[in-house]
Amino acid sequence: MAEVTLDEIVALCKRRGFIFPASEIYGGFRNTYDYGHYGVLLKNNVKNQWWRSMLQERDDIVALDSAIIQNPKVWEASGHLAGFTDPLVQCLGECKRRFREDDLREEQLGDENAEGEIRCPVCGGELSEPRRFNLMFETFVGPVQDESNKAYLRPETAQGIFINFKNVLSFARKKPPFGIAQIGKSFRNEITPGNFIFRTLEFEQMEMEYFVPPPEAGKWHEYWMEQRLAWYTDLGIRPDMLRLRAHGADELSHYSSATSDVEYDFPMGWSELEGIANRGDFDLTQHAKFSGEKLEYVDSGSGERYVPYVIEPAAGVDRAMLSFIIDAYDTEEVEGRQRTVLRLHPRLAPVKAAVLPLVNKDGQPEKAREIYEQLRELMSAEFDTGGSIGKRYRRQDEIGTPWGITVDHQTMDDDTVTLRDRDSLEQVRIPASELADELSRRLKEPWTSPKMGAPA
Ligand code: GAP
Repeated sequence: MAEVTLDEIVALCKRRGFIFPASEIYGGFRNTYDYGHYGVLLKNNVKNQWWRSMLQERDDIVALDSAIIQNPKVWEASGHLAGFTDPLVQCLGECKRRFREDDLREEQLGDENAEGEIRCPVCGGELSEPRRFNLMFETFVGPVQDESNKAYLRPETAQGIFINFKNVLSFARKKPPFGIAQIGKSFRNEITPGNFIFRTLEFEQMEMEYFVPPPEAGKWHEYWMEQRLAWYTDLGIRPDMLRLRAHGADELSHYSSATSDVEYDFPMGWSELEGIANRGDFDLTQHAKFSGEKLEYVDSGSGERYVPYVIEPAAGVDRAMLSFIIDAYDTEEVEGRQRTVLRLHPRLAPVKAAVLPLVNKDGQPEKAREIYEQLRELMSAEFDTGGSIGKRYRRQDEIGTPWGITVDHQTMDDDTVTLRDRDSLEQVRIPASELADELSRRLKEPWTSPKMGAPA
C-alpha cells in the first residue's frame, strides 16, 4: 500500500467534490476552502460522531451554541487581546514576505526556540526583528468604524462556554464534574495558513469544557486524554498513526498548566489534531473579575462553594476530517486495474450504500430506484445509473461508500440483489427485503481499517 501525499489528497478532494479552493474563479484566496456535497456529508458525520460521544453516550455533558461576535470585553478577560499573538518577521531582502519566526526557527534550526541566524526561506534575504501580531480578526458593529465599535470574530469557541457557565448551571441541574460542549466556526488571522485544510483562516472547532472539583483536575485530564485518543481509533484511525505529546513549559498557552496534544502522522509530519488542556480556574476567575458576576459552584446541600477547574479537549473539525481522509486513502491493483479507495469507517462515510442497476433497461432502473427510496429512509444512499458498472463502482470507491447494491436480471426473477463490500470486494447475494436489516447491522459493528499493520 502506497504512502499518500498531500497533493494526492487535494486532487481526490477536488475530483470527487469534497473540497474546492474558495473564490476559485477569482484565483483563490489565502488558503481558504469551500466544502462540496461529499465534504459537507463527511464533515457532518465527523461532527455527529463527536456529539454522539459527548452527549448521547453519557449524561454529564450538555450542549451550547454561542455567538461568534461577543462583547469585546470577553477577549480582554480571556487574555486574547493581550496574548493571542504570533511572532512575525518580514523579509528585508527582495521578496518582502512575512513569516512566523517560530516556524522558521523550527525549519532552519530544528527547534522553534533555538538561537541562531534565520534567513528568508524564499529569497535568502535578511529578516526583520520579530514583532507580535494578534491573530484575532477585527470588525466593527454598527455604521461607525471607530474604536468604540470595534469587535472581534471569536478565535475559539471556548470563551462562549465560560461566559455561559452561570446560565447553564441554573438550568442544567449538574454538579461538577460536568461538561458543556460546543461546535462552531472560529477565525484566526494566521500569518502562514497552509497544508490544505490543516491551517486555515476560518475553521470549525469541537470544544468541551469539563468543570471539575480542583483536587480532581489531574485525574480528569488523564481521563480525557484516553477518551479522545480512543475516539479517533474507534472511528478507524490506525493507532500507530496517532500519539499523545505533552507540551513543554515553554509551549503552554497563557491559560494552561498542562496540555497534551493528540497528534497525527500527517504527510508533512507529526502535527496537532487536538489539544487537551488543564485550564485550571483561569477563565472563570478572569470572567468573574471583568464582569462582576460570581462564577462558582455552590453545593445546595453542604453550602460548599468553589471555582471549578476546567479540563478542555479542543479539536478541529477540518483537521480531524483531513486525518480521516488521509488514513482512509488507499490504492491497489484489482484484476489488472488500479483502484483508489477511501477506506472510511462506515459511520463516517458520506454515502453508506449505492444502488446501481446493472443495465439501464428491462425494469432494472425502476427496481433499483425502489430499493434506493426504501434505504434512504434509514441511511444516506445514492442511486446511480450513469456509465458502466465498473466506472460507477470506481466513483463510489473514491468517495468511500462501504456498500454497493447491484440490481441485475436475476433480481427481476427472484428479488435478490448482490451486496458488494468496498474493502474486501466480496459480493454476496441476498433478498432485497433483507437489505435494510443487513446494512443496519453492519453499520453498528465495530470496524477496523483494513490498512492496519501495513506501512503508512
Ligand atoms: N480553546 C483552545 C483552543 O482553541 P487550539 O489548540 O488553539 O486550542 C484547538 O485549537 C484545535 O482547533 C486545534 O487542535 C486544531 O485542530 C484546530 N485549529 C486551531 N487553529 C486552526 C486553524 N488555523 N485551522 C484549522 N484548525 C485549527
